[in-house]
Amino acid sequence: MNDTTGSGSSGNRPTGAPIISLEGVNYTLDVGGRPLHILRNISLSVAPAEVVAIVGPSGSGKTSMLMLLAGLERPTDGSVVVAGQDLRTLSEDQLADFRRKTLGIVFQSFHLIPSLTALDNVALAYEIAQPELGLKKTREAAAAALEAVGLGKRLDHRPAALSGGEQQRVGIARAMIARPQLLLADEPTGNLDQTSGAKVIELMFELARKQNAAVVMITHDPALAARADRVMTMTAGELVETVRTS
Ligand SMILES: Nc1ncnc2c1ncn2[C@@H]1O[C@H](COP(=O)(O)OP(=O)(O)O)[C@@H](O)[C@H]1O
Ligand SMILES: [Mg+2]
Repeated sequence: MNDTTGSGSSGNRPTGAPIISLEGVNYTLDVGGRPLHILRNISLSVAPAEVVAIVGPSGSGKTSMLMLLAGLERPTDGSVVVAGQDLRTLSEDQLADFRRKTLGIVFQSFHLIPSLTALDNVALAYEIAQPELGLKKTREAAAAALEAVGLGKRLDHRPAALSGGEQQRVGIARAMIARPQLLLADEPTGNLDQTSGAKVIELMFELARKQNAAVVMITHDPALAARADRVMTMTAGELVETVRTS
């Protein structure tokens, strides 16, 4: 639908039901018979195609919240609704299906398969997302996805032969193939230097904008957070909106 490029955080958000709606979410683990309150009464609404950055100290619960959004953990109470699906009501199989169709996930440590080339890393994800496509079309689509992240000349490189920034580009290509409505990124630049980190974020936002995907990105870098539509801060399991002065 929208195909704007260029940077900045203004406008261009479709209206409609939120892509994410968390209400009264608590996440408590039992650690040696004692409750450990990891997330406390979290409420969050994210609009389709909105870009939200989550900042906050290590151990404050940011990754845990992403796990709940991905249906990889279940809340102790409260509701987690993503793309209109109440995740509490879904079975493990349905959650797997939900993740395949709705989500892209980008990890700090890339999580590429070391023995596979860039092309095969992306092709494998395609096979999982769209098994009906067939080998030839899958490889063509994977090559196009890598082309789109500037790696058209690195198709046959294994991860070890790629820089950190290039590996993360493969990770982003892989995350976006199924055209997810929601991209979750957990410190995607945590293993990159400032310059390649900024380029990777630029690319991630551009692809998300082209595909009209919402983004929830955890980051420690205030300069990257500043590029989001909205910044939230997690402190000791509580999430609050960060008021910006600019
Ligand atoms: N499975 C678990 N068992 C025990 N403690 C956990 C578990 N998962 C997370 N925690 C604790 O929950 C808190 C929040 O962790 P996390 O969500 O990873 O924070 P962040 O991503 O902000 O660094 C930390 O204190 C962490 O040690
Ligand atoms: Mg974390």
